[in-house]
Amino acid sequence: MTPATDFAAWSRAVQVDMETALAALLPPATVAPERLHAAMRYAVLGGGKRVRPMLVFAAGEAVEAPPTRLTAAACAVELIHVYSLTHDDLPCMDDDDLRRGKPTCHREYDEATALLVGDALQSLAFEALSQPGLHPNAGTQLEMVHLLACAAGSRGMAGGQAVDLASTGRSLDLAELEFMHIHKTGALILAAVLLGALCGEHLDTSLRERLEHYAKAIGLAFQVMDDVLDAEGHTATLGKTAGKDAAQGKATYLTLMSPREARAYAGELIDTALAAVAPLGERGRRLAEIARFVVERSF
Ligand code: IPE
Ligand code: IPE
Ligand code: MG
Ligand code: MG
Ligand code: MG
Repeated sequence: MTPATDFAAWSRAVQVDMETALAALLPPATVAPERLHAAMRYAVLGGGKRVRPMLVFAAGEAVEAPPTRLTAAACAVELIHVYSLTHDDLPCMDDDDLRRGKPTCHREYDEATALLVGDALQSLAFEALSQPGLHPNAGTQLEMVHLLACAAGSRGMAGGQAVDLASTGRSLDLAELEFMHIHKTGALILAAVLLGALCGEHLDTSLRERLEHYAKAIGLAFQVMDDVLDAEGHTATLGKTAGKDAAQGKATYLTLMSPREARAYAGELIDTALAAVAPLGERGRRLAEIARFVVERSF
């Protein structure tokens, strides 16, 4: 990535590079089964903030990892994320009609196709990450595959989603909410940061712990802000229907605190994240910028 550009230019460059890489990785819509491939491309391409890929690149920059490796890891994390969104929107989960400013996958296609889109995107993520020779150290590459598998599974994102569904219509205390957010959203954000760092040649323990500390703080802050934006944001800006959490009786941070308190809490988490990467200096610049973006964003 070009050094010394401002965050807006850098994040746009990541978005453009990701669009190209993902478009090349996804099977063409002209290849059978055409409808499934078209639906996969519909779900993945042409939208999203690409925050997780940004985190892969930012952590990778901190260890001077090569861009080709980072691109593959970033695609893998984004594909797991889009799979989670596609399933999250299904009628049996959040029943949403709008995602990334367009009809949700099951609305544009149908429920069975959206289900298969999620399945296939998850497999494609591991296809990308496990490609032979991606990392010169096969042990490190295996660790990356293992890390992403754990982050996506029942002790990670899928587990958090299970808690989310089980707690709809009930009130959770702060510890339970934190458990849910750390899993449904934090796990993949942590994986993005660690995958980026593992793309380098060697990740020492103290840097790894620093990055984990950073990632856990922004992962939780990210979902706290998602809850705030659901309540305070607008459908046109968010690209997804605002006000759904309250309408569906979802347990969120706003069931326990005011939007102002939730924003303040997210701000504290970001300060923790910034402190964790401050000793990295210029090497941690993009990580710090992403942390600020997480709390300042309006979409
Ligand atoms: C939304 O994620 C779902 C959560 C895990 C909070 P994002 O806000 O990153 O969604 P996109 O990728 O930009 O659409
Ligand atoms: C989604 O949380 C988390 C995952 C998809 C893993 P939400 O249900 O709050 O996400 P949005 O608000 O629909 O994007
Ligand atoms: Mg949900
Ligand atoms: Mg949802
Ligand atoms: Mg939400």
